[in-house]
Amino acid sequence: MVNSPTLQQAARYRAVIAGTGSAVPDKILSNADFTRMVDTSDEWITTRTGIKERHIAGQNDTTATLAAEAARKALDDAGMDASELELIITGTITPEMVFPATACFVQEMIGAVNAWAFDLAAACSGFVYGLSIAQQFVSSGRYRSALVIGAETLSRITDYDDRGSCILFGDGAGAVVVKAAETGSLGLMYSTSFSDGRGWTSLNCPAYGSRNPVGKPLDDPKMVYMNIHGREIYQLAVRRIVELVNECLEKCDLTVDQIKMFIPHQMNARIIESVGKRLNFSDEQTFINIEKFGNTSAASIPIALDECRRLGKLQQGDIILLVAFGGGLTWGANVIQL
Ligand code: UT7
Repeated sequence: MVNSPTLQQAARYRAVIAGTGSAVPDKILSNADFTRMVDTSDEWITTRTGIKERHIAGQNDTTATLAAEAARKALDDAGMDASELELIITGTITPEMVFPATACFVQEMIGAVNAWAFDLAAACSGFVYGLSIAQQFVSSGRYRSALVIGAETLSRITDYDDRGSCILFGDGAGAVVVKAAETGSLGLMYSTSFSDGRGWTSLNCPAYGSRNPVGKPLDDPKMVYMNIHGREIYQLAVRRIVELVNECLEKCDLTVDQIKMFIPHQMNARIIESVGKRLNFSDEQTFINIEKFGNTSAASIPIALDECRRLGKLQQGDIILLVAFGGGLTWGANVIQL
């Protein structure tokens, strides 16, 4: 029996997961492909990251087209028409354009004429931040439904000459429909979010933006690409994710064995395994699919959640724990009863 009295008493409705969907481009870059591009090996990439291949956007794929495809599948799964949606949140750091928001493009593409839509720039934490916002609007009774998407075309800001980063990233999108319910599963039980802007130098893409606008000569032409300090991120991610999980378990009065599936942001299989070990999650409880998709930033958790459901690993009533850490720095988690 799940016990989170304070959390549930505060909510008028349960914010339940009504459907999930995901989409990835057809094109695949394997580790073997990278050995022809930079000085690397399948062995190095596999042992250091767990990645074997990643999907890469083709000429006709954009963040919004991938997001819209994932959204349509999530709506289909929920048995809902797009016109029933009242809110669309898209977590992305590779938006369709500077403006308007990618979420507005998605709204137009799927015909969600009754929704309002906006983007959320929280890098790898974009999806868990988005779910926490949806939880507030839906559980308070303000909206009956929300669509939360994580979508990225990271290949468009990846430096394919930098072996330290290019092997990590992939493209794709995942989406979740959140609906108000009065009975049944508890849905989104608890969300927690953090950021620390002092850590922005560890992970960023400096151009183009207000600080480095188009037209002003860049100090370094590589500023248009993602710049990552992998080691720093690695160590911080392990520490913060362990803290997040412990906070979630305590606030929801849950034990590790009550979590059916721990679905972390897929940034590195070694990070996930190390966190899982410290927290005593079994291998069966820890979902890893980074070998097929690489790190897709905001898209990684909803893609993993959708795959996990479609593989039949999750049933109604199961409790899952989503955790993310990324650029900003940002980090956050959601506890959900399906
Ligand atoms: O989601 C948030 C964004 N994600 C991240 O920030 C990723 C988090 N960090 C990581 O996943 C890991 O730190 C990496 C996978 C990026 C790197 O793994 P590492 O075990 O931390 O390696 P390292 O950066 O300490 O580099 C070890 C060696 C270096 O060579 P030397 O200096 O020891 O001679 C690198 O130059 O590995 C070398 N190296 C490579 N060798 C072959 C770096 N990239 C490669 C490569 N192939 N692709």
